[in-house]
Amino acid sequence: MIGTLRRTGLVAAAWLVMSVAAAGVTPAAAEPPAAPDAHHSAADYTASSWAAYTSARDTLTQRGADAAGRERLQQAADGLVMVRGLKNLVADYKTRAASKYTGGSWAPFAEALAKADGVAADASATTSEVAAAKTALVTAAGNLVAADEGTFQTITNDVFWNDTSGNPIYSQGGGVFKFGDTYYWYGVHYTGAELYRANPTRKYDGDVSFVSIPVYSSKDLVNWKFENNVATRSTGLANGASLGQAGWVGRLGVSYNETTGKYVLVVQVYLPSLGGDGNGVLFLRGDSPTDTFDYAYYQNQVVNSPTTGTGDQTVFTDDDGRDYLIFSNRSGRSRAFVGKLRESDSLRVEPAVQIGLNSSGREGNAMFKLDGKYYHAASDLHGWNASVAHVIESTSSNIQGTYTSEYTMAGTEMDYSHVTQTGFFVTVKGTKQTTVIFAGDRWADFAWNGIGYNQWMPVTKSGSRPQLSPVSQWQFNATTGEWRVGQNNNYILNPDFQADRVTVSTLTGWTNTGGSVTNVSPGANGSRFALQLGSGSAGVRQQITVPAGTYTLSAYAKTAGSVSGAQVSVADASGATRTLNIPSSSGWTRRELAGIPLAAGTATVTVRTSGGTLTVDGLGLVRTSGDTPTGQRYEAETAPAVCQGTIDTNWAGFSGSGFCNGTNAAGAYAQFTVNASAGGTATLGVRFANGGSAARAANLVINGSTVSAVSFESTGAWTTWATKTVTVPLNAGSNTIRLDPTETAGLPNVDYLDIGAAAA
Ligand code: GCU
Ligand code: CA
Repeated sequence: MIGTLRRTGLVAAAWLVMSVAAAGVTPAAAEPPAAPDAHHSAADYTASSWAAYTSARDTLTQRGADAAGRERLQQAADGLVMVRGLKNLVADYKTRAASKYTGGSWAPFAEALAKADGVAADASATTSEVAAAKTALVTAAGNLVAADEGTFQTITNDVFWNDTSGNPIYSQGGGVFKFGDTYYWYGVHYTGAELYRANPTRKYDGDVSFVSIPVYSSKDLVNWKFENNVATRSTGLANGASLGQAGWVGRLGVSYNETTGKYVLVVQVYLPSLGGDGNGVLFLRGDSPTDTFDYAYYQNQVVNSPTTGTGDQTVFTDDDGRDYLIFSNRSGRSRAFVGKLRESDSLRVEPAVQIGLNSSGREGNAMFKLDGKYYHAASDLHGWNASVAHVIESTSSNIQGTYTSEYTMAGTEMDYSHVTQTGFFVTVKGTKQTTVIFAGDRWADFAWNGIGYNQWMPVTKSGSRPQLSPVSQWQFNATTGEWRVGQNNNYILNPDFQADRVTVSTLTGWTNTGGSVTNVSPGANGSRFALQLGSGSAGVRQQITVPAGTYTLSAYAKTAGSVSGAQVSVADASGATRTLNIPSSSGWTRRELAGIPLAAGTATVTVRTSGGTLTVDGLGLVRTSGDTPTGQRYEAETAPAVCQGTIDTNWAGFSGSGFCNGTNAAGAYAQFTVNASAGGTATLGVRFANGGSAARAANLVINGSTVSAVSFESTGAWTTWATKTVTVPLNAGSNTIRLDPTETAGLPNVDYLDIGAAAA
């Protein structure tokens, strides 16, 4: 155990009562002896260190609070060896199956796992042995290489995200960190976020009341499982304070410290009772990524920063495992800093190195590394508003070396980074390519700039510079690192006119073609903004890049006065133009023009009117046909799939993390929810195993209607998997596909469903 154990207020108070009762005297200014935190118990420590601790504690209780006894107890407490985190890791990694990984990556992992298992079971293991076993295991697990091609999962922006249990994800101003083979996402849950999600027609300015710091886990960066609140309002801090008393909690990240084997959460905080002016960096510490974290340290000012606290901050972990705090100075925010977290325990930001200077101020500071270069990105000093991403890039392989002058990241100009502020980046080194995810924070609960808090988009290299693709929907394969535009992507940028948030006469992403142009509130949804043209002739246009295909153009519109020639049109690279005419209508009406063929290349979207006033909102340009992605796979164990039975892993050969073993009963179904780009007939492949000797029959129920019956023949063994191909009618958009068994044997074991599978 490095340093001393934390003393929670609870334990200190209990000690006071106990010592008064035992010794009949108040131990005045005497420090209460160190003791394990309230949420730690015998099973969390090695048997021998716990025995030494309890014996010192019991002796002290019998003899009263003499100084020597307290000293002995302090030593025993300092000598406690925490193994809970290692035990958790080992239990988790024992669920991995060798068949899923390349032999070359499995062998060192299996070795590290066996070693860690031994250390976790060793009653007299030392703290440094535990830390070393943990680090070796996390490292080997991080190097595991999947033996398959992975699957594409859909990321949809402009909606509120849910976790795998269907509960809201509340995570703002945080970061995603990969520990072993799992991604962990930490952020802040604010009260304002709950209120806004329930009623997004109004703002919750300044309702930054802190609720908790949740942690979610994922293997694919798309399906996130809620794990724990690592900190809450009652998390105890120094000087008897608790986190709930803080005026601000946010902008956090986590460092795994290889020396101590601990996870350190580095949080921006404002809480005067912590010391100094109360603006500082708080360090909380846990024994596993999903632990309940405890107070460890508070740093009021980082050396070389001209002001206390930090402007904004994130934690960046380099390839070599070293962690850095990326921040700007709090007051003025003109200087960009990289401060290394102390290697011995990650509990201090060492003297920082200034890498950038901009007198206008920058915030949302975050960093990523691509092809050996460091890129520092930040937003305008805009409060909760959206912004382009300003980038400086390293001119050497030294993260604390020199950086270029600032440029705007391509792809962030036309919709202010999809109406976000830089939040953090996740770099995914796939088997085929490296993709960086730009995780933008949409502080909609405070700023009213659209729906959803988390807007994630891919960043790839275009020439020598990184470029953001501001897509509203995309598909990502975390195994290969590949991505592609999603079927429901809206190709129009800033389509809801929310990026500016203040009234302007030239809207972000739009070029005025003449006349009176402005944004007005409320928009079609009864709040936020819309584009208003006129009265008299006026127009705007936007140029975008589209792939060839057939598109649907849509808009919400209303008019005032006598409009003529009100329209939204789109012209493709060949100059062919299609026009959606807007008739007079005093109330908001949705208009749509389908079947628009567009050639690949630049398309121009134009909105115009020749008289009266035209107000438009919610523009859409969605591709309805082109090449439908094939091989879109839906695993039976992945929400929103439903398995009336258990998700099992006992029969090898399944894909993903398990298969659905339906209860052996008629009606015990497996259900998938799939997305189709267009209505029509689709071919589905159902992967199953039937180790029984008889075939199992099921109805195929699409969107609640039985369309056919399927028979799943015996495959001879539960480890022998086969694919049944069926043809079904699907609607455009979301569909439920249910396999509903009609006999008492129930379903075969079901692994996944492929949509758009090649006909067998
Ligand atoms: C066995 C087998 C299960 C299977 C079940 C069944 O119990 O282990 O995986 O689902 O048989 O007959 O349905
Ligand atoms: Ca079964």
